[in-house]
Amino acid sequence: MSEETRRDSEEEDDDSDSDTLNSSLDRFLRHWDCLRSVSNMLNIPTQSFPAPSSQQRVSAAGQSGRSKVALKPGHSLMDWVRFAKSGKDLTGLRGRLIEVTQEELQKHNTKNDCWTCIRGMVYNITPYMDYHPGGEEELLKAAGIDGTELFDQVHRWVNYESMLKECLVGRMATKTTIKAIIPPPPLTGLAPPTSLAPPSDKDSRPRYDWFQTDATAHLVIYAKRKIPSSGCTTVDLKAGVLRLEVLLGKMSYMIHLRLTDEVEENVSVHSAFSVGKIQVTLRKRSQGKWTSLGQPLEFHNSFLYKKDRAPYYRDCVLVSKTEVNHNTHVFRLQLPRGTVMHVPVGKHVYLKGLIQDSEVVRPYTPVDENLAAASQRSSQDSDLYLMIKVYPDGVFTQHLNNMHTGDHVSTSGPEGYLHCPPPP
Ligand SMILES: Cc1cc2nc3c(=O)[nH]c(=O)nc-3n(C[C@H](O)[C@H](O)[C@H](O)COP(=O)(O)OP(=O)(O)OC[C@H]3O[C@@H](n4cnc5c(N)ncnc54)[C@H](O)[C@@H]3O)c2cc1C
Ligand code: HEM
Repeated sequence: MSEETRRDSEEEDDDSDSDTLNSSLDRFLRHWDCLRSVSNMLNIPTQSFPAPSSQQRVSAAGQSGRSKVALKPGHSLMDWVRFAKSGKDLTGLRGRLIEVTQEELQKHNTKNDCWTCIRGMVYNITPYMDYHPGGEEELLKAAGIDGTELFDQVHRWVNYESMLKECLVGRMATKTTIKAIIPPPPLTGLAPPTSLAPPSDKDSRPRYDWFQTDATAHLVIYAKRKIPSSGCTTVDLKAGVLRLEVLLGKMSYMIHLRLTDEVEENVSVHSAFSVGKIQVTLRKRSQGKWTSLGQPLEFHNSFLYKKDRAPYYRDCVLVSKTEVNHNTHVFRLQLPRGTVMHVPVGKHVYLKGLIQDSEVVRPYTPVDENLAAASQRSSQDSDLYLMIKVYPDGVFTQHLNNMHTGDHVSTSGPEGYLHCPPPP
């Protein structure tokens, strides 16, 4: 029980025991109780919001939180996108990609000559300096070094790969000893994470098993630990590929298979939190026995730090938009039929949109569906409700606000590390 809740309930006990309550205090308490049940119904947290550790909190530059600086006119995100696409040589290498040694990286550590490395890829961020919403001082913290951790601490969701495509210098030269264990990331597409080292104790890694009937295939995951309240399982079934991710605190276990045969889109997931067991039921389209569950795909049966997995996006449909006030709406998003996803309290999702040919990503925290009570459209229970303030000059919120019902938006799975203890 949180300090605040305990104080509340202790006060409540004291009050109810007391015979000396005067009638106005009594009225106040009844009113307060009523407000509290409304707040519970709406799932409004009793703690201050955003929570003290939330990434939504803004703090002074230089502290560990997030703070935007005022950029010079003509230096917005869209200005950067235009500048980056102007065809100028932004790396100084005329499009050549090179292997960068540690010594070479370290040499480029000033405002006028600044390289940084993110997930094994080296970028010349000198031209981006004046466009960085966190300011030059923040960006320079990553000058000449591996900036991955700093970058992730502030804004893991930022799509640096597409933003800095024209600034790509090449990849870090990997030392031979490390090379044998971790393959170097490819120069195109999503670079695989650099710190893939899973927890050392092999026996503590989750494992899976499966069994079948003629009509169904059942996948069972043994997490080998209790599933925390912040833990969750997200399943995506698309074109015969099953992708399943179990979040266990800071860790993520993944099953990724091309299934042996076709299955129905309605997947069921049952989790026994206290014993750490998850059972997924797939319904076969045609009856019969399978010789295997399927063929392993990338990262199948892997157990990694969540931060080392690139977010996975699925296409959601905007089914309604409910006005809350003049600039805030609840956007209701429907997940694809083959997706089972629940976002635990305190976690957020990323929405991704293609705006003027550039990917823009923003985090949003789902709210309770009661906040969109006015919406009449019938839909799946698992719809996501996002309460979003639309800024007159906001890049992403303007894009979202201009969407029509039926339009699609890419949505990630649950993200973030805020842990909400279960209610007492
Ligand atoms: C973990 C997390 C969860 C979040 N959850 C929610 C949520 O549930 N609902 C919600 O509405 N938002 C939420 N946000 C905020 C959201 O992610 C976006 O930041 C917000 O929607 C604005 O995006 P935008 O692209 O429209 O605006 P932007 O284009 O990024 O600009 C937003 C506003 O900031 C101003 N601005 C932009 N850059 C600067 C600058 N350099 N200096 C000064 N001002 C600047 C703009 O003028 C504009 O008024 C969350 C953020 C985080 C980190
Ligand atoms: C090198 C690649 C980087 C890119 C492409 C980048 C990009 C961005 C973008 C797009 C934003 C706006 C985010 C938003 O509004 O949600 C931002 C904000 C910010 N960035 Fe970076 N960044 C980079 C590196 C860094 C590093 C290394 C640091 C810290 C050491 C940092 C610190 C910040 C801070 C403090 C903000 C303000 C956060 C806010 O309140 O919105 N950035 N950056």
